[in-house]
Amino acid sequence: MRVRTAVLISGRGSNMAALIRAAAAPAFPAEIALVISDRAAAAGLALARVAGIPTKVIEVRGAARARHEAEIDAMLERHRIGLVCLAGYLHVLTPFLVGRWRGRMLNIHPSLLPAFPGLETHARALAAGAKLHGCTVHLVTEQLDSGPILAQAAVPVLPDDTPERLAARVLIQEHRIYPLALAMMAGARAETAAADAALMNPLPALEPAP
Ligand code: GRF
Repeated sequence: MRVRTAVLISGRGSNMAALIRAAAAPAFPAEIALVISDRAAAAGLALARVAGIPTKVIEVRGAARARHEAEIDAMLERHRIGLVCLAGYLHVLTPFLVGRWRGRMLNIHPSLLPAFPGLETHARALAAGAKLHGCTVHLVTEQLDSGPILAQAAVPVLPDDTPERLAARVLIQEHRIYPLALAMMAGARAETAAADAALMNPLPALEPAP
């Protein structure tokens, strides 16, 4: 059973597209079953629709964060989602949604965490004189960009780099490691489900040995 996975986006959706592409392989242990955006204008929504994936826009209205997250949670449950991937989703989630999906929600961040959490990571890496930069997939916890790390990839910082050039080099690696991390998590969940099923349906007792 492939793990039904939702992707939350706010914009371009290139990481979402990488996940969709990887999950198109029948042997991939997750399927992308839902894409949620907080912005109707997110370019990624069109990519998801072309791929035939159900999409939903759930906008954040005013300060009603609790209602917004309750709506997302209900949508995830309705679509029988097992794993959630944040992919350029611009809102910091509250402890409510983080708690509901603890251990089942992944995020991709464009730096080698724990270096450079937060925004403007490429410019900050350049300003700090970093020689290596990169990206991280991690589990989402209440603390911003600091949950358990699932995968990382490093790229060199070159002498003539601009934030844009560095971002493009990092993005190539993001598109590699996000599917890898999702496959790892989905594979682990499928194995756990199989082990649970075996526990619920034990083999009949063996005949005593002669
Ligand atoms: C990526 O750089 C990701 O690491 C960060 O936001 C960006 C989203 O890009 N969290 P895209 O929408 O996946 O193209």
